[in-house]
This record gives sequence, structure tokens and C-alpha cells, in this order.
Amino acid sequence: MIGPTPASTTINNRMSSYEQLATDAVAQIDQAGDLATLDALFGSLLGKKAALSLAKKDLGSLEPDQRKEAGQAINAARQQVEAAFNARRDDLASAARAVALESERLDLTEFQSGSSAQAAGHLHLITQARDRLEDVFVGMGFTVAEGPEVETAWYNFEALNIPEWHPARGSFDTIFVNLGGPEEVMLRSHTSPVQIRTMENQAPPIYIVAPGRVFRTDTADATHLPVFNQIEGLVIDKDISLGDLAGTIDAFVRAFFGEEVTTRLRPSHFPFTEPSAEFDISAPDGSWLELGGCGMVHPESLRKCGIDPEIWQGFAWGFGIDRLAVMRYQLDDIRELVNNDVRFIRQF
Ligand code: DAH
Repeated sequence: MIGPTPASTTINNRMSSYEQLATDAVAQIDQAGDLATLDALFGSLLGKKAALSLAKKDLGSLEPDQRKEAGQAINAARQQVEAAFNARRDDLASAARAVALESERLDLTEFQSGSSAQAAGHLHLITQARDRLEDVFVGMGFTVAEGPEVETAWYNFEALNIPEWHPARGSFDTIFVNLGGPEEVMLRSHTSPVQIRTMENQAPPIYIVAPGRVFRTDTADATHLPVFNQIEGLVIDKDISLGDLAGTIDAFVRAFFGEEVTTRLRPSHFPFTEPSAEFDISAPDGSWLELGGCGMVHPESLRKCGIDPEIWQGFAWGFGIDRLAVMRYQLDDIRELVNNDVRFIRQF
């Protein structure tokens, strides 16, 4: 009969089996690919029915000092498993966090690269030109004035010294509006009415610019639009001469186009200025481009607004903002400005 296994063998076997349990448990833990799998392992490796838990209950047959030694070995094995468990838990949790962060992240670059619904736009070329013009004139001490787009004959014509019979009415191909009243009402054909409105309401000295939309019966072609934008300027002060007009136009043109661009005045005629001129700007090829009209405010217009022409003088000018944009960006066709083709608009 084979005798009982010597105590020393028994304890050694136990010790190595605890080590083996721990090694196996750690291997299983390290293989767990996600938190759910790891948590499911907990019961079988460290729970009440786990081999390393049951082993504690199985120490009764050992001698007290062996029991102590075995107990310590079991605790060491459990600690090893617990440590592996916790380390694996940390690793898997931070990996899961990284995955969540990645999937919930807002990719802001995508907005910029033009998923079209979200793409930020920019101001239209005409608006940019108008804003810049305003900036240049405000920098020269002017304020910005506005007037209505629907005007009476008084503001669009009469106060500007264009009586009913005057042929100039024909050159402002006006679009009339029928409001049912006796007064002639029209879409303004230029921004010059704002001169009158300002002089009626404001005592001199006056330094204003008035940008805005104007309307004519023109058919759209490469150089005309039936609806376009002008900017009007008006200065009323004492001792104002044609030299002030020329200097102001030159200063603004240089500020807008660059120092290398020069200007010239050519004699012309407008009923509301005397003398009158057209002003041109120099092109790089040496030619001249007509930009707008200008002149010394007609004494008759001053009088109609209650301003004494013996005390106050002034000058005025007006030109098309759309035309200016066409020149500045060398566009082939002014209609591009209103075709709303984003491939064109995006370039500016
Ligand atoms: N209103 C004129 C036009 O539309 C332009 C103009 C000419 C405005 C002379 C002025 C001016 O203020 O003095 O053709």
C-alpha cells in the first residue's frame, strides 16, 4: 500500500498549482479583447467559485505552518490575478475611450473643405467694392447718406435742375411707378436725388457720399445693367473751387486703385452742375477709362434747397460701383456680377 504523500511534496504541489492557476488566469485576462469579455472572466477567475477562492477553503488539512505558507501563496496568486485584471481593465477602458472620442469627434476641417451646405460664404463683389469706397471716403472725412429707391419727379429731376421739357430726362430712361396719385413717381435713375434730400435737411457744411441702387430701362449687355449701383458725393462749404473737386477725385482714385493711377477731367454737361465734367482714370496701357460725372453744384439746385449760393459753394460727383468693379477686376462682362454663378463669385 502506498503511504500518504509526504507533507513536503503535498505543499510543493499545492504551491506550484497556485502559481499555475495564476499564470493561466493572467493569460486569459490578457487575451480578453474588450471590457465585456474581461468582466465576464471575473467570476471564474476571482469569484467565489473560482479555483483560487476554493483553494482557501481547502487548507484545513494542512499543518498550521504549511497552511500559513499556502495561504500566503494563494493570496500572492490572487493579487497577481487582480493586478493583471486591473491593468487589463485600464488598458481596455482607455482604448474604448479613444474609439468613442474618434467617432464622436467634430471634424471641423470638413466644414472648410466645402461640404456645400455648411460652407461659409463671403460678401458679393459689389458689396465689397461699396464697403471699400465707403471706407475710403469716411477716411477722408465724409459721412454716408442714404435715400429711397422710389422717388418723386422733384428729387429725381426738378430740384436737380432738370425741368419737364429738358432733354436730359430722356437720357435717364426712367421706370415709372403708378401709385394712383397725381404726383409722378419713379424708380430713381441715379443717386443724385440724395444730394437734394441732404441739402434740404442739413445745414452746410456738408460732406457726404451716398451709395445705392438705381434703375434704368436699359437692356442688359456686356456694359449695361438695368439695375445697378452708384455712389454719389456731395461737398458744400465756403470757398470751394474746381481744384477741390479735382483733388478729391484724385485722392479717392489713388486710395482705391493704387498710387500709380491718375485722373483727368473732361468738359461735359449735367443740368445740376456748372461747370460739369466727366472724370477718367488712367489704365496701365496708357488709355483712359471713363468713370463718372462731376461738377460744381448748380446755384439753382442750391437755391431750390434753401442754400444761399453767394455764401456756399460745392461740388458733386457720381459714378457706377458695378462699372468700377468691372474695371478693378478686369471683367469681360458686367452681367457676370448678377448671373449668380458661384464659380465666378467665389473668385473674389
Ligand atoms: N447722376 C449722374 C448720372 O447718373 C452722374 C453725376 C454727374 C452725378 C455729375 C453728379 C454729378 O453728382 O455732379 O449719370
